[in-house]
Amino acid sequence: MKLSFKTPAKINLGLHISHKREDGYHELETLLQMVSLYDSIELETLPSGIELICEQPGIPRDHTNLVVQAAQLLLDTCALKETPGVRIRLDKNIPSGAGLGGGSGNAAGVLMGLNVLWDLKMSRENLARLAAQLGSDVPFFLTAPRAFGKGRGDEMSAIQTVGKFKVLLVYPGFPIATPWVYQNLNLKLTNPQNNISILKKFLSESQVAELGKHLFNDLEPVVVQRYPEIQAIKEDLLHSGAEGSLLSGSGSTVFAIYDNPDCAKSAYTKLNKGNGGVFLTETVACFSEFWPDEMLNYS
Ligand code: C5P
Repeated sequence: MKLSFKTPAKINLGLHISHKREDGYHELETLLQMVSLYDSIELETLPSGIELICEQPGIPRDHTNLVVQAAQLLLDTCALKETPGVRIRLDKNIPSGAGLGGGSGNAAGVLMGLNVLWDLKMSRENLARLAAQLGSDVPFFLTAPRAFGKGRGDEMSAIQTVGKFKVLLVYPGFPIATPWVYQNLNLKLTNPQNNISILKKFLSESQVAELGKHLFNDLEPVVVQRYPEIQAIKEDLLHSGAEGSLLSGSGSTVFAIYDNPDCAKSAYTKLNKGNGGVFLTETVACFSEFWPDEMLNYS
C-alpha cells in the first residue's frame, strides 16, 4: 500500500521569548502560518524495517532524519502484534536549517500518513503528543494552517481565518543551527512590548498591511549581528513594496508579506537570481490544500 502527500513550510509572523526554562528550552509565544512551498513524501508499506530514500544531497538518510524518528516513535509507542515496515521517499524543495520547519512538516506528515497506512487509529491529540517529542515545531503541522503557539512552541491553538496573501521567501544560501541562536540570545535585549495578541487580531481580520507593520522576532537581532547579509535582504524586500519583512524562526530565511499580489510577483522577478533561493508562495488557508482527506479522519 502507498500514500503520497505534500508537506508545507511555515513562517513565524511573530516570535517573543520570555525566559529560559529549567529544562533548557525557552518559554515563548509565536504565531505560525503555513505557506505553499512544499516537500513531497511517498510512504509504501514494507513487511518490516524503516527505509528512507532521498535524492537531494546533504539530507541525512539515517535515524538522525526526523522522518525516520517519527516512524520509529510510532513503532515504539504502539504495541503492535506484527511490527510493520515502511519505505519513505522524500523529495525536498524546502531548504534545511532555514527556519521554515521543513523537517518538522515532513515528520508530522509521516506520523499522520503511517497512522492511516499502519491502521493505528491514533487520535489527533495523541499524535500531537508524539509530535512534541520529535521537535517544538512538529505539533503545529497537525493543528491548523495558522496557529498560536506557546510553551516551548509546541502548545498550539488554531486561528480561524480564510484570507490569503502572498509571501516571498529568500533563503540566503546558508543554514543556521537553531541551538546556536538560542545560546546567543540576550534576554535582556528582547522587547517586552512585542505583543502577539495584536498580530493575532490583524491575521484573523486579514489586515495584511497592519500585520506587516507589526511583524517581530526576538531571535532576529542575534542572527543579524552575526550575518549582516540578512539585514540587507530584509531591506531589499522592504523596498520591493512589501507590507513587512522578517527573519523566520531562527533563520536563515527572510520572508516578506504582500497585500498586492502584483507587487509580490514583480519583487520575485527582481530578486530571483536563478540560484533557487527565492520562492514566491502564498499562505495556506485550509488543511485539505495539503493533507489528503484520509489523513485527517482521526479516531
Ligand atoms: O525543539 P527543537 O528540537 O526544534 O529545538 C532545537 C533546539 O532549539 C533546542 O535543542 C534548544 O537548543 C532550542 N530551543 C529552545 N527553546 C525553544 C525551542 C528550541 O531553546 N522553545
